[in-house]
Amino acid sequence: MDNPYVLTHKTPTKKDFLDTTEFDQSEILDMVKISTAVRDYLKSGHTLNSLYHKNLAMIFEQKSTRTRVSFEVGMEQLGGHALNLAPGAIQLGAHETIGDTAEVLSRMCDLIMARVDRHESVLELADRSTVPVINGMSDYNHPTQELGDIITILDHLPADKPCNKVKVVFVGDCTQVCVSLMMITTKMGMNFIQYGPPAKWLGDDFLKIGRANNQLYGGSVHVTDNPAYLEGADFIYTDVWYGLYDKETPKDVYMREFYPKYQVSDEMLAMTGNPNVKFMHCLPANRNEEVTDSVLDGPHSIAWDEAEKRLTAQRGLLLYFGGVAAATLDEIKKQKEEK
Ligand code: CP
Repeated sequence: MDNPYVLTHKTPTKKDFLDTTEFDQSEILDMVKISTAVRDYLKSGHTLNSLYHKNLAMIFEQKSTRTRVSFEVGMEQLGGHALNLAPGAIQLGAHETIGDTAEVLSRMCDLIMARVDRHESVLELADRSTVPVINGMSDYNHPTQELGDIITILDHLPADKPCNKVKVVFVGDCTQVCVSLMMITTKMGMNFIQYGPPAKWLGDDFLKIGRANNQLYGGSVHVTDNPAYLEGADFIYTDVWYGLYDKETPKDVYMREFYPKYQVSDEMLAMTGNPNVKFMHCLPANRNEEVTDSVLDGPHSIAWDEAEKRLTAQRGLLLYFGGVAAATLDEIKKQKEEK
């Protein structure tokens, strides 16, 4: 029986959280464990000060609601502080390189989180930084979303259903959220399908990552435009069709490619044949484009719970990469035993 207070790895094997492919399943489960233990502890009315006097620098090259608020609130709830370094507010870009920024922030802050336009930027930041760097989304992946999503999926799994029987279908474009969902579900040994137009399928390099996970952990990975693959889905997930990184392609081109076949509607959920199918979306959503109002606001939707799980995950990541996850679990265990 797994001990809820003991991590497989007492300290992280990597300084930074840039890409979940750098971590094995047991490490991801450690991150899930600290995240959910702290969530349950705080929800039962306790407080924690594990990051007392610690500072998180948050670099945003793009807008954000969930990532920004969850990191800022997470730091505050753990006794620390977060600095929002939005575009134009610091020298980064115009007057200072990202590497030089990393050197300076490392001397003043304890952790750095960055949402960047290009993945190379977060790699450079991590390379020059001496403190942990967390990737808050790049044009390649969205690993903090991954951790929140896998916590959401595990929380909403049908009772006693083993991971290798779970079917997760991503509908639409191969955005970085699609890539990330494939990476994390296959790491957990689940069955991942991307259902979308062939021109928007995950490329071979990504599928290779999924298949390597299948070899290690079981499960499967498929890309298809055949709606028959929707049958038996436990989770249907979608993301916006346009506008995030591809600002060149006009909206009507995307609409012709995806609408109506790939819009998540009540009819699409019915095609799964699963009355308990769950709907997920990383948000923000373009309502009535990739998903109808009736699905997003309907009884199958767990998208709002999924958004809340971003906070659950960020606290866990801050503690894990801040090097205090094991000590925090010890403290939670001690407090519970004393009660
Ligand atoms: N899902 C997500 O990353 O949301 P934000 O862009 O609002 O942070």
